[in-house]
Amino acid sequence: MDQDFLPLNGTDFVEFYVGNAKQAAFYYQSAFGFQPLAYSGLETGNKEKTSYVLRQGKITLVFSTSLVPDSEIGKHVDLHGDGVKFVALLVDDAESSYRETVKRGAIPFLEPRKLSDENGFISVSGIHTYGETIHLFIDRNNYKGIFMPGYRAWNPFYKTTEVGLKYVDHMVGNVGWGQMNTWIDFYKDVMGFRQLISFDDKDISTEYTALMSKVVANGNDRIKFPINEPAEGKKVSQIEEYINFYHGAGVQHLAMATDNIVATVTELKNRGVEFLYVPETYYDDIMQRVGEIEEDFELLKQHGILIDRDDEGYLLQLFTKPVQDRPTVFYEIIQRKGAKSFGKGNFKALFEAIEREQANRGTL
Ligand code: FE2
Repeated sequence: MDQDFLPLNGTDFVEFYVGNAKQAAFYYQSAFGFQPLAYSGLETGNKEKTSYVLRQGKITLVFSTSLVPDSEIGKHVDLHGDGVKFVALLVDDAESSYRETVKRGAIPFLEPRKLSDENGFISVSGIHTYGETIHLFIDRNNYKGIFMPGYRAWNPFYKTTEVGLKYVDHMVGNVGWGQMNTWIDFYKDVMGFRQLISFDDKDISTEYTALMSKVVANGNDRIKFPINEPAEGKKVSQIEEYINFYHGAGVQHLAMATDNIVATVTELKNRGVEFLYVPETYYDDIMQRVGEIEEDFELLKQHGILIDRDDEGYLLQLFTKPVQDRPTVFYEIIQRKGAKSFGKGNFKALFEAIEREQANRGTL
């Protein structure tokens, strides 16, 4: 096998551009149990933008907002609403990551550079992916600080406990009509990923709507990116609804893994996180479909947790409602019990649940 020209050690952080970073940070702290880590803003000498960094397990989220008019962040928020700007990937060599991907056709965003302070330096570079989304390559091997130069520790008086979220399992992009293969090819040709699975509109459709999806993964499987595009149906597919409100391609959902989905979801619900409703009929024939499971079936049913099985085991998953006013970004909570797949058996139930929400919004 060829040597991986883009070795990736994992997701370093995901940065959102939002209208109000202070309140977003509070929401992720209080509702999702993320822990305060770092801050950048007026007090650290940054007069352009404010950023809050939060962490839970290996998941690091950054929320940034503009302090000035006519800014890049402000324009992004005006067009897209709150959404993901940077998907930062952890590497050992930001310079070669940039060189190898740009050589293969990536559009440059940030040439390799060093950001330094008294704690050492971080090497960073960046390329464009779908929509206005950027992949940053971050090498922090020579840095001992809490996050990055320009940030200081953030220790608010308000404290919450974690809810058991461990790592980013996968991150999904929605792209426009006919664009899925373009971006799958980008990940294969430019970033050296391979395709894991493909779902066409016959796999993923309901009476009214359809979509197509393919999944790519990097060489060590730490990074998995499903890419969705809308497919023709009688009504507006959820992917089209996303594209309409996001005004372009963007990150649709982050799947965050837990070791105990019942405990995690119970805690998230108690803190106000809203999940998609799954009708009880979903569970009517579930035992025939998935067989024996270790969890208390009644508890899964009570929480509306979806179950699916593949050759290697099973998985449990549940999806939140959108976490901002536009029907765009949402989260998946997932627990894998051997299964490495993406819950194909749950797509229909999931999409029917989303269609009920779309009908309520008048966007179906
Ligand atoms: Fe997912």
